[in-house]
Amino acid sequence: MQLFKTPNATLTPTVSAAANVLIIGLSGCETEQKLVGGAALATEQLLATAKELGACSKVGNAVQLPQVEGKKIIVTGLGEGTACDLRKAAGVAARKARSLGKDEAVTVAVDFNLTDPALVQATAEGALLGLYEFAKISGEETKAPIAAVEIVAAEAEITKLAVSAASGVAYAVNVAREWVNIPANYLYPETFAASAAAEAEQLGIKVEIMDEKELEAKGFGGIVTVGRGSEHKPRLLRLEYAPEGATFHLALVGKGMTFDTGGLNLKPANGMYTMKCDMGGAATVLGAILGIAKLGLKIKVTCYASMAENTPSSTAYRPSDVLTMYGGKTVENANSDAEGRLVMADAIVRAGEDKPNMIIDCATLTGACVVGLGDFYAGVMSNDELVAKQVLSAAETAGEGFWQLPMHPSFVDSLKSDVADIKSSGARTGGAMAAATFLQQFLPENMPWAHLDIAGPAWNDSKPEGHIPSGGTGHGVRTLVALAQNLQG
Ligand code: BES
Ligand code: ZN
Ligand code: ZN
Repeated sequence: MQLFKTPNATLTPTVSAAANVLIIGLSGCETEQKLVGGAALATEQLLATAKELGACSKVGNAVQLPQVEGKKIIVTGLGEGTACDLRKAAGVAARKARSLGKDEAVTVAVDFNLTDPALVQATAEGALLGLYEFAKISGEETKAPIAAVEIVAAEAEITKLAVSAASGVAYAVNVAREWVNIPANYLYPETFAASAAAEAEQLGIKVEIMDEKELEAKGFGGIVTVGRGSEHKPRLLRLEYAPEGATFHLALVGKGMTFDTGGLNLKPANGMYTMKCDMGGAATVLGAILGIAKLGLKIKVTCYASMAENTPSSTAYRPSDVLTMYGGKTVENANSDAEGRLVMADAIVRAGEDKPNMIIDCATLTGACVVGLGDFYAGVMSNDELVAKQVLSAAETAGEGFWQLPMHPSFVDSLKSDVADIKSSGARTGGAMAAATFLQQFLPENMPWAHLDIAGPAWNDSKPEGHIPSGGTGHGVRTLVALAQNLQG
């Protein structure tokens, strides 16, 4: 499986001769706009031309200007110049730059005249994230890729570090997006696990893949049962990054439903079409551990990706079946489309055995979360206010939408079963929190935990926006890397 290759960005104090596209900024209010970056090229005349062509300082506005000194110029609105704005501004402009490379590979330089390392990092991230594109699966040869990305900024150790951190983070996000975008006839548990293992091994991360036989033998009843209907057998992937001197141990658990048809509770056609994205939680946690390792953060991370395909067949699990989960708890299956929580529960129990300091799980778990929060915000549900705050503050740094939803003991009552320890779903109301409450039953006692329901933002059904492409978004990867950054030590 060919994965998108994210170019590494390099820091350069001046625009190099090799750059054939130069991105500069436009800032200021309506009456007093000014070009930012571009040194001597950014003349009054260039500003006048830019305005004539419709350039303005609004984020999202990116206009191509006539060539100057053999370089194509793109001017992009910088808004208020915050990290969030610069990330988007660089993303939009980079996407425009990519479209300019017809035959020759594009070397793009981004110059916003920056010195602050945080802004340098946001700009570099935006450019590398904006360049991401899923290459059509085609017999024809694909277009030449972007050759290189230069970030023009004052040269110092700290700005260099910022650019290399951005390269690591962008690789992590783009790899997650790519996995989400690969169709389910290419990406299924076996190939997904192999692809993630290959990326992890390159970074020295320890890899363990449990196949269906091992899962069955060890009693992973949730994963095995959900995966039973498909010819593509389930996998549980365990990755471990344990740098010397790490004191905090973070466990990540992700839902890797490579396709969710709803099983015997078959989804309607319009609800099923995008369900190749149902492994988005696994893609996010895997992307995050790869990013954390690339950045060399001083934190131990174990990552579990629970992979299966949910399809109807004569071997598929039925509504009202009783499953015995890893660890021994029994579950009555209320609806075969509520499969995510079953594969997650097994992986959460397994993650708990490692005795981490915190468990964060991430899943495209409920339609209810999308109805409640829309496509920008993912839901955060937690048994610990401090953990919720830590996640929300990391999300703020990353510029990703996360919103806390409340937990309440009444959800436990709604999951009562007459035939098993617990039912997989109960009340129709509060579906996102009910699902979180189900997962909570599988945690070790007193385990600080947060559940991230990314069902809305994992997939972008509309046009690209800023640094966010259509299709898989990699939502959550940057938040988890920022969280690990804050917890390390
Ligand atoms: N994978 C879906 C949730 C989903 C919906 C993800 C929309 C992305 C976009 C999940 O497995 C599901 O179908 N959940 C059911 C649960 C219900 C049967 C209790 C749902 O939300 O309807
Ligand atoms: Zn489902
Ligand atoms: Zn699902």
